[in-house]
Amino acid sequence: MCGIVGYAGRRPAAPLLLAGLQKLEYRGYDSAGIALLTPEGVRVVKTAGHDGVMAMEILAGQIDRLPAEATTGIGHTRWATHGRPTDNNAHPHLDTAGEFAVVHNGIIENYLPLRARLREAGCVFQSETDSETVVHLLAHYYRGDLAEALRRTLADISGSFALVGMCRHHPGQLVAARRNAPLIVGAGAEGDFFVASDIPAVLTETREVYVLEDGEMAVVSDGAVSFSDFAGTARAKTVMRVTWDAAAAEKGGYEHFMLKEIDEQPRALQDTLYGRVNRSGLVDLGIRAEFFAGVERVALVGCGTAYHAGLIGRELLEAWAQLPAETAIASEFRYRRPLLDEHTLVVLISQSGETADTLAALHEARKNGARVLVVTNVVGSTAAREADEVLFTWAGPEIAVASTKAYTTQLEVMVLLALYLATARGRLAAEYSAALLAELQALPAKITEILSRKEQLRRMAVPISRAGSAFFIGRGLDWAVALEGALKLKEISYIHAEAYAAGELKHGTLALVTADTPVLAVATQRALYDKTLSNVEEVKAREGRVLAVAASDNRELGDAADEVFWLPPVSDALAPLVTIVPLQLIAYYAAVLRGNHVDKPRNLAKTVTTE
Ligand code: AGP
Repeated sequence: MCGIVGYAGRRPAAPLLLAGLQKLEYRGYDSAGIALLTPEGVRVVKTAGHDGVMAMEILAGQIDRLPAEATTGIGHTRWATHGRPTDNNAHPHLDTAGEFAVVHNGIIENYLPLRARLREAGCVFQSETDSETVVHLLAHYYRGDLAEALRRTLADISGSFALVGMCRHHPGQLVAARRNAPLIVGAGAEGDFFVASDIPAVLTETREVYVLEDGEMAVVSDGAVSFSDFAGTARAKTVMRVTWDAAAAEKGGYEHFMLKEIDEQPRALQDTLYGRVNRSGLVDLGIRAEFFAGVERVALVGCGTAYHAGLIGRELLEAWAQLPAETAIASEFRYRRPLLDEHTLVVLISQSGETADTLAALHEARKNGARVLVVTNVVGSTAAREADEVLFTWAGPEIAVASTKAYTTQLEVMVLLALYLATARGRLAAEYSAALLAELQALPAKITEILSRKEQLRRMAVPISRAGSAFFIGRGLDWAVALEGALKLKEISYIHAEAYAAGELKHGTLALVTADTPVLAVATQRALYDKTLSNVEEVKAREGRVLAVAASDNRELGDAADEVFWLPPVSDALAPLVTIVPLQLIAYYAAVLRGNHVDKPRNLAKTVTTE
């Protein structure tokens, strides 16, 4: 999740590139850079954020170091994946002679063998990134035709990419390509061209854009643009006129970041899984085995949504790895003097990696000699830096306060961690683990299918949006998902919502159920269908309205509930990863129907840095 902007035209490039990057900062912001073409070679400024000053701010202060007269250039704002957020790892990357420059979004999957090969050929690498291999390949294959060099480069790289390159010997030329990462070409006035990862980057300059498809290349040269496939066969493309306003465009045409982020979940899950299953079909966390040796118990700690992810992690760790595990709310953890020692693995879960309560728990764990594993979405965050080991969720920047894709990717990491430890401890049959990993790979498609049925969820949100209070019920893993569903509804719709273990409802809370109190039942756990069904019947007997999210084979619930959203087939253990999606959408639509500020709900902040 990084941002790209390129410009080739007659105007000074640097201010145009900077303005474009500033529009893309929401995509990633740990480092940023600009490179310009000059007759002597490529000139570049790039920086990570330092001492609390954002990278973009530093870049803006350095822009006057670049030649003001240069009219071709590329820029990038980065959200670190391969390689820490440092000045050297920031894009653009240059070849050894400083004649070529490239910016890249995505992941070059085979960068390690490529880097070894290029080093042998004499290339000098300046960064830890996968992206730098692309610019060295470009220089390596260059024989006077930049587009041809790119085609040969594309034949060598696997993975996902949106990339733009340029070369000292071709003033006014940009070459670009995409596979599984967005890229557009904006056609400005008088032969000005922009290449960007997102429309907002170009919107102040032009509304005429060409959207590249996967497998397409673009060459901007001499005030014209041409398109082809990777083999060089020309492609005709029609220009699209963008009618959204700038603010909407930052959200990629979505009304709210939250909805965009909900829709991004299939991709986020793919990215998080990527590279974590080895050739033998086993989980590879990229953490040395000794780190886990001698672990006798696990404490999963987090706040809000992250805590809810920990609840699922606990169940899976106990069930598969047969490791005693507890889940703790970070703000409670250190005050109750938890029993910690060197045999305890403390797993801190935090999207931002900056939550004060979670950091305090980290310090408590460290003080007591426990091993600290951090699960976070932000490379370079405090938690990531202070951890003994880190597992990143590759969800990309999450802007909406209500966490969605961070949660599902946290759940995926919980599954991977539990499978890894179960296998390492010899507690899980290899076939069972292989089947779960295969299913994990298939989940993005199942979520995509759920996302195609938003209309039903919007309808189900109507009675909820009119209620003053709602209950969520479920058993086992469904209860943990119900807690997260209720949190989503509370924080953005401002409707009082509480989640109960379904069997607990009759011990008091049932007194609150009336015809005006919707009850959302979650029912995916096969062994518990009948029990949950009885609890639904109890609600119906009090004239309560029951809306359900249920496994497709739980047909009896169809007769009992007022409306059911049926889930695609999924095993019990992985059900939470798909079950939460309809609940996120119900909360989203309820908030929209109530006219609330969905992305920035009242009284809340995305990152809570106070205890
Ligand atoms: C979730 O929708 C919330 N915004 C909130 O509960 C959040 O998960 C919590 O504050 C923890 O944040 P973190 O993951 O960045 O540590």
